[in-house]
Amino acid sequence: MTLLNQRILIIGGSTGMGLAAAQTLAARGAEVLVAGRSREKLDTALTHIRGKAAGYTVDFTDAASLADLFGQVGQIDHLVLAAAQDPAWGPFAEVKVSALRHAMDHKLLGYWGSLQAALPHLRRDGSVVLLTGAASRFALPGSAGLAAVNGGIVAMAHTLARELAPLRVNVVSPGLIDTPVYDAMPAEAKAGMFAGTAEKLLVGRTGVAEDIAPAIAFLIENGFATDMVLDLDGGAR
Ligand SMILES: NC(=O)c1ccc[n+]([C@@H]2O[C@H](COP(=O)([O-])OP(=O)(O)OC[C@H]3O[C@@H](n4cnc5c(N)ncnc54)[C@H](OP(=O)(O)O)[C@@H]3O)[C@@H](O)[C@H]2O)c1
Repeated sequence: MTLLNQRILIIGGSTGMGLAAAQTLAARGAEVLVAGRSREKLDTALTHIRGKAAGYTVDFTDAASLADLFGQVGQIDHLVLAAAQDPAWGPFAEVKVSALRHAMDHKLLGYWGSLQAALPHLRRDGSVVLLTGAASRFALPGSAGLAAVNGGIVAMAHTLARELAPLRVNVVSPGLIDTPVYDAMPAEAKAGMFAGTAEKLLVGRTGVAEDIAPAIAFLIENGFATDMVLDLDGGAR
């Protein structure tokens, strides 16, 4: 019961892997604080979490919004960063610098600003879990933009595990996971992408958010875990 009454903030906790983590952590006795931009998504998420939970609006690309969030949330034991938007997919020759800059703003710099804003409120020997992405762990043509954004987070996590110790800093690197992030894709294109990926994976299927949530909980719970990258990608590498 190491999670009992631990206060855990999940930025990007209203859908997908962040929400699955919130459900798992709350079920193990933690108090989960889920954050995202949409009040509506947060309210829906709260109806799916059994246990102690609250929802807060934040835009993690905005320093004032982050300051407001931490003013409301107060002290926390652990932080999970699971938000992202508009990844810079596509062949290297076609991804414009402006698209990569936008993707950096909406993931790497969002993580950077969130952790910086969290530090004064985060228990010194608590932990941080950063969700990155498998595209930075092996060479996947068409994913150089994702590799750059997520690889930057992995690299910074190694440094921060040492610089911020005894705070523990860990990474979960998921492969293709069926979450609402793909809702905007035409159904046929999405089904094709998931089927095509599944047949190449060692496990013969793509992931679901529930594959990832216990890994996030493990890294929070295990006081001996720091500077780790947990690759959960069905064998994609
Ligand atoms: N799904 C995959 O296949 C996959 C693979 C590898 C890595 N990942 C990474 O895993 C993480 C979780 O992905 P997911 O698929 O679970 O995503 P998701 O279902 O789309 O959830 C994203 C969450 O982030 C929030 N969010 C987005 N932009 C935000 C912002 N500017 N400020 C604050 N919150 C924001 C969203 O709520 P609002 O929209 O209301 O803000 C939502 O709660 C992301 O970092 C993603 O890059 C995903």
